[in-house]
Amino acid sequence: MIPEETISLFERLVNDAREKAKDEHILEMIQWKVDHTWRVVETGKEILEGEKGQDWDVGRAMGAFLLHDVGRFEQALLGSYSDKQTGVSHAFLGAEMLVKAGYKDNEIIEAVHDHSLAVYEGSNVYTKLIKDADQLTIIGEEYLLEKHPEQKIASEEVIKTIERGVKLDTSISVGQIDHLLSYWNWKKFLYFSTSKEIFRNRKYDEMLLGKLRLFDKSGKTEEWLRKSTDLLATTV
Ligand SMILES: [Fe+2]
Ligand SMILES: [Fe+2]
Repeated sequence: MIPEETISLFERLVNDAREKAKDEHILEMIQWKVDHTWRVVETGKEILEGEKGQDWDVGRAMGAFLLHDVGRFEQALLGSYSDKQTGVSHAFLGAEMLVKAGYKDNEIIEAVHDHSLAVYEGSNVYTKLIKDADQLTIIGEEYLLEKHPEQKIASEEVIKTIERGVKLDTSISVGQIDHLLSYWNWKKFLYFSTSKEIFRNRKYDEMLLGKLRLFDKSGKTEEWLRKSTDLLATTV
């Protein structure tokens, strides 16, 4: 379903980065993002299947999922996946790489460019598809939460943002609980009803609650969630 030339382009960009990788660790980082990408493609396919009849091109959408994180391959060469630490927006870099590689689909390039904006208010449907598929995938990579610094209680800024009902930007997260709450908060901002359905089917509420209880054994964050937010409601 993904156009042949899009797959070749993806493979070319992955191999270019592999050739420049200076050690095993960087190669592993690249591989991690390749695997992440294919998970996003799978989730994206589920969204497309549930949203049949929408005004988009399935092949181009599938291509967008595959290309969304190509910037990560070059970024990995800098030894980190943090846009903050590397001073590089992997999304902007990815769009640039596609232009340089001669890729011509401007709508998809724009979607790659905008896919990691915390708040996207434009009308590009491929950006929305990437964002939903990416976020649903990242929540499922929940074991990564444990890699963040331990935290006893959420940051003030994260608590306030959630209470205001505004979308959280993970760049303000400082530790495990902040990240977990950001993921949870994403469910309110998914664009497609199929995406919300996938969130429910994958039992993400239960999974996130289990993690939260592990991180905050005092139960205070859970108590606050129930009292002051609607994040635990089955439909938001
Ligand atoms: Fe990304
Ligand atoms: Fe991604």
